[in-house]
Amino acid sequence: MPALRLILDRVFATRSILLDERCPGSRTMARHSISASAFCRMSRTIFEAAARSFLAWRRPQLPCHASYGILACMTHDVAASSHRRPTFADYGDDYFTALYGAVPRQTAVDVARDRLIRTLVQRYVEGGRLLEIGCGFGYLLGSFGASMPGRWRLHGTDISAHAAAVAQRRLPSSHVVAADIQQGIPFQGLFDVLIAVNVLEHLPEPSVAARAIAAALRPGGVVVAHLPTINNALSRWIYAHSYERDPTHVYRPSGAEFNLLFEQAGFRTLDSLFCPFWPAPLWRLLKPHPAYMAVFERL
Ligand SMILES: C[S@@+](CC[C@H](N)C(=O)[O-])C[C@H]1O[C@@H](n2cnc3c(N)ncnc32)[C@H](O)[C@@H]1O
Repeated sequence: MPALRLILDRVFATRSILLDERCPGSRTMARHSISASAFCRMSRTIFEAAARSFLAWRRPQLPCHASYGILACMTHDVAASSHRRPTFADYGDDYFTALYGAVPRQTAVDVARDRLIRTLVQRYVEGGRLLEIGCGFGYLLGSFGASMPGRWRLHGTDISAHAAAVAQRRLPSSHVVAADIQQGIPFQGLFDVLIAVNVLEHLPEPSVAARAIAAALRPGGVVVAHLPTINNALSRWIYAHSYERDPTHVYRPSGAEFNLLFEQAGFRTLDSLFCPFWPAPLWRLLKPHPAYMAVFERL
């Protein structure tokens, strides 16, 4: 099979589609990668049926009844697979100097994006426990505290000990912990809101993070996530000339694939915003830019 897949990849320059195989009631978990570009264009139902048969044929003696779901269609899979897995060492002082500048501050676009995130959060939840994963220096967390004092109990986490320390120093009344989201959420108790801004694209195991997020949210709790996506030739071109340059961007879904990742982890999609600024309906139609924001509700 690996040889056949290699030939398919070479001859048809196909995409890889990752599938999660889960055995209910056991800890068994396996990930499969199927190469089949034509599948990407088929309806999801047809694809899933084809994938299920493929895996049943490949692994006829599964230890239990397994369920399958499309995890992600990795566009640019060749580039992605040539990237090594990012580690905490990638997120040192230099990374944040490049991100926020030598004198750290947010850009006007980031400030506008954060305002939109606060508006979306308030549309669904009035206040409570809020966690931001990959919080960086804590600008967004701080803006929740500043614009709605007393309404939120703020928590943050980031794989970078440097970023977590800066965020904690800037926001003494919040709780910020250095941790890898793929290892689980480093706080006890359920959250009302979880925010992930430009962090999930850094994860080689986004489904692990999606499940950890689901376990940390109360039913009815809300996730607001923002990340770059690849939805058509134009957004792929823009991605290749911008986000592609960061070797830690290893998860490159389309908006629809990203929604599916969360739906399979136990969420309902409440809102999808492509290039999340006015005029939203036009951008939803054209999907010109990789920037994508989604709101999910924990079922
Ligand atoms: C592009 S920065 C975004 C920071 C912040 N959300 C913002 O918008 O200013 C990506 C952040 O994700 C963090 N990160 C990357 N991988 C992570 C992981 N596995 N777990 C937690 N944080 C991670 C990085 O340290 C970094 O702070």
